[in-house]
Amino acid sequence: MTDADALPHRFEGQVALVTGASRGIGFAIAQRLVAEGARVCLTARKPNPLAEAVAALPAGRAIGVAGGSGDPAHRAETLDTIAREFGGLDVLVNNAGMNPVASPLVDLDLDIARKINEINLLGTLGWIQGAVRHEALQFAARGGRIINVASVTGYTPSEGIGMYGVTKAALIHLTRTLAVELGPRIRVNAVAPAVVKTQFARALYEGKEDDVTAAYPLKRLGTPEDVAGGVAYLASDDASWVTGQTVTLDGGLLSAGGAA
Ligand SMILES: NC(=O)c1ccc[n+]([C@@H]2O[C@H](COP(=O)([O-])OP(=O)(O)OC[C@H]3O[C@@H](n4cnc5c(N)ncnc54)[C@H](OP(=O)(O)O)[C@@H]3O)[C@@H](O)[C@H]2O)c1
Repeated sequence: MTDADALPHRFEGQVALVTGASRGIGFAIAQRLVAEGARVCLTARKPNPLAEAVAALPAGRAIGVAGGSGDPAHRAETLDTIAREFGGLDVLVNNAGMNPVASPLVDLDLDIARKINEINLLGTLGWIQGAVRHEALQFAARGGRIINVASVTGYTPSEGIGMYGVTKAALIHLTRTLAVELGPRIRVNAVAPAVVKTQFARALYEGKEDDVTAAYPLKRLGTPEDVAGGVAYLASDDASWVTGQTVTLDGGLLSAGGAA
């Protein structure tokens, strides 16, 4: 856990939206941005855990809007709520992502493949379109920053989660493409984590953590806070000349020839 008192205050007066933020990586990102001065809107599908996450952040600094990232009405409601409650948007973190099945691509039900694309890829593009087009949010005028949460599976194939990896590879290219389209006023970057200890990744390490970490030069798995630190860097003025990049956060896994 990062010591909040030791952090810089790079987001004082700024507003951020973090999707998929009731737990795991998204919650750690929201926590980090708030600790550095931002007010943050969190989203997730289930209202109760979302309300608990908002309540765990300092009073007056966070709001939540429940809904699924693939739902255009939820995206519109969330952006309108941010405009009304916070008056603008500076940082959009597209963190919501899913992988409902383990299956080789050749056996994958195409309706499930569509769903994975709808959330991981098209949902992300939908949030970006919504933020950029929303006049009251003044996203471009405020020097908006977009950070997409990709994955090392977007670089190297991982068994059983092929379509998930394909959507993350597409996110990495979406990031580059939008950086070109949206400059100079908006910066667009991504992070690509290897295995991070969250509910989502539990099956990848539970009961075999020593074996899994052996492949990592830094000899440990990632924490949500590791990812939050990378996202905060990309969202901050410390990265003011960085756009179109995907920062790999993997404890050295890819350098050692591994795959998540
Ligand atoms: N953990 C890893 O090893 C790892 C590695 C690389 C990349 N990632 C990426 O990091 C992101 C976050 O993963 P995580 O590990 O933090 O997962 P997590 O612990 O399972 O948390 C996922 C969060 O997203 C919400 N969520 C799930 N589906 C959603 C949807 N359709 N719309 C809106 N919110 C949704 C969940 O709440 P509800 O269930 O209430 O909606 C929850 O708040 C994902 O994009 C994932 O692909 C994770």
